[in-house]
Amino acid sequence: MGAIHLNGVSKVYEGGVVAVDDVSLEVRDGEFMVLVGPSGCGKSTLLRMIAGLERVSGGQVVIGDTDVTHVAPPDRDIAMVFQNYALYPHKTVRENLAFGLKQRKAPKALIEERVADAARMLGLEEMLQRKPSQLSGGQRQRVAIGRAMVREPSAFLLDEPLSNLDAKLRTTMRGELARLHERLGITTVYVTHDQVEAMTLGTRVAVLRGGVVQQCASPQELYRRPRNLFVAAFIGSPAMNLVEARIEGGCVRFAGLAIPLADGSPLRGAARDVILGVRPAAFTADGPRADEALPRIEVVPDLVEHLGDEVHVSFGLDATPVQGDAVLAAEEDVHATRLLVEDAPRARFVAVLDGRTAPVAKQPMSLRVDNEQLYFFDPASGEALGLAAEPSEQPAAA
Ligand SMILES: Nc1ncnc2c1ncn2[C@@H]1O[C@H](COP(=O)(O)OP(=O)(O)OP(=O)(O)O)[C@@H](O)[C@H]1O
Ligand SMILES: [Mg+2]
Repeated sequence: MGAIHLNGVSKVYEGGVVAVDDVSLEVRDGEFMVLVGPSGCGKSTLLRMIAGLERVSGGQVVIGDTDVTHVAPPDRDIAMVFQNYALYPHKTVRENLAFGLKQRKAPKALIEERVADAARMLGLEEMLQRKPSQLSGGQRQRVAIGRAMVREPSAFLLDEPLSNLDAKLRTTMRGELARLHERLGITTVYVTHDQVEAMTLGTRVAVLRGGVVQQCASPQELYRRPRNLFVAAFIGSPAMNLVEARIEGGCVRFAGLAIPLADGSPLRGAARDVILGVRPAAFTADGPRADEALPRIEVVPDLVEHLGDEVHVSFGLDATPVQGDAVLAAEEDVHATRLLVEDAPRARFVAVLDGRTAPVAKQPMSLRVDNEQLYFFDPASGEALGLAAEPSEQPAAA
């Protein structure tokens, strides 16, 4: 009923800005789809086209079984929550919740029932008589969501609904949104540039860059099998370590190191230049509990950050860092600072280690690197290489 199909949807703004470029995407009925990507990549534009608030320049929007491409927003049976949820300041919470249904001339009993349901689900029962100014930021946000809920739309569209809240409240609201979706099962499209939100909320996540969908998959799939360099650099925090390297003789060579490729790697027979990606979590500190079968590298950490459960260790390696467009575009958003400390041409690596290890800055240490967690990309195209090595894990249909 509430599935959304985008068929080759484009948006060219006046002046020729191509904000969305031929996007085809299926949001399954009941699915929580997250649109993520750096600023200006077209997330809001895409969402607004689903809502009907922005005219499409090309393509087709289908909600349920209906082509709504040329249907006005109020007739699309969807509800949208914006970042700047404007509540009516002089109306009470109850009146704010009821407003949309009242305008539609819904029967009074129905309005009361829906408002009561929404208030109960969102924990707003005690506050129905208050005005927005008497609520906290999180409570106001809940009213905004409640206002969308009472309409019982066939889909929810949310554009960075939590970005006005402080970090702690964001985390709480994130959990509430997840539970709400679990309970109501309403098809949801959620825009964010916060990848933690994307990864924790999304049934599937669509990564956009320059108005083009780079990959749309479950969070695990995006993390474990990024299709290209941009997705690899964008998803994951700290970001994937990326360097220029060469595969030869069954090893990947960089910075004077030769790390044997994993047994099943389809690249074992290759001799070619690649971009090598290593997730920070692929490293472990060498020691009695380390896996001795794994290749070892010696490093000198120049920065050690203890975060409790884990320790982040950064170190330089004499390899050429990757600074292509794709990586810069991804890092701009995620780790702007990492480039500033870059003492090029040395590559900066980050390893995430178990919090019980005690690395010390400037003191040499050994790390083991899990060669099953290496990623390879074509230096020219940025496309992932050797992805066929693992069976693709399809997300369970929602
Ligand atoms: N009304 C407009 N007229 C012209 N260009 C626009 C208009 N609205 C957006 N754009 C451009 O379209 C592109 C996509 O904008 P959009 O707002 O969809 O990005 P976004 O991914 O939501 O970014 P953010 O994360 O900053 O909210 C940007 O280059 C933006 O400057
Ligand atoms: Mg936006």
